[in-house]
Amino acid sequence: MPLEARSWQEPPRGADWLPRLEDAVIMAKTRIRTSQFQPAEAARGARPAAPNVDAAHCPIEMLYEEHFQQRQMAQDMEALADSQMPRPDLARCILGALTGRLIHHRADEDESLFPRLRTRAHPEDEIGPLLDQLQAEHAQLRDMSDKLMPALYRMADGALPAPEDRDALHRFAQAERNHLIAENALVLPLARLRLSASDKLAALAEMRARRSQPPAGPPIPPDAEGKAE
Ligand SMILES: [Fe+2]
Ligand SMILES: [Fe+2]
Repeated sequence: MPLEARSWQEPPRGADWLPRLEDAVIMAKTRIRTSQFQPAEAARGARPAAPNVDAAHCPIEMLYEEHFQQRQMAQDMEALADSQMPRPDLARCILGALTGRLIHHRADEDESLFPRLRTRAHPEDEIGPLLDQLQAEHAQLRDMSDKLMPALYRMADGALPAPEDRDALHRFAQAERNHLIAENALVLPLARLRLSASDKLAALAEMRARRSQPPAGPPIPPDAEGKAE
């Protein structure tokens, strides 16, 4: 039976509760389906603000918030891929995410979260292979992003996506969603459980320092953080 067709009830949670893999995937897919029902303002194109990186913020919750923004980016990619008219507004929003927040976010995971989780995880968590896979996906997604960039700049200038651009946008959106499902369902819940308070403080300090510098990558286009129409 497909995962989507199964009825699922959240089990009672104890202090050490972690979802089984199958339940975690269903929970993540449910969250994604629910998130597609946006309020009217979001449907008109408003984007959630970048998370606050103040000293009181939990770095794990901040990564969850950024994942919400990345799901929005995937929706924008699919809307752009399917559009029959130029959508420079959407192309600029996507460029803003790819050249800005996403670069910092992947560095947060590769350099601040995953190494600490590898150290703190218990052997029975068996998280190492998944973290290896997610780090490899970061490199694959970066490669896909680099290849898409020239087409996105053309679309930001008012061009329609070429057929191969439409395919690439759909592939990127699906790859990004699959990546988010694993991180939301498995990695971040385990990080909540295993990271110590000092781990979180140290990770947050690194994330704040990272955001005080411009992201390493192509330039952020003007108006890229604006609202889609
Ligand atoms: Fe992430
Ligand atoms: Fe990631």
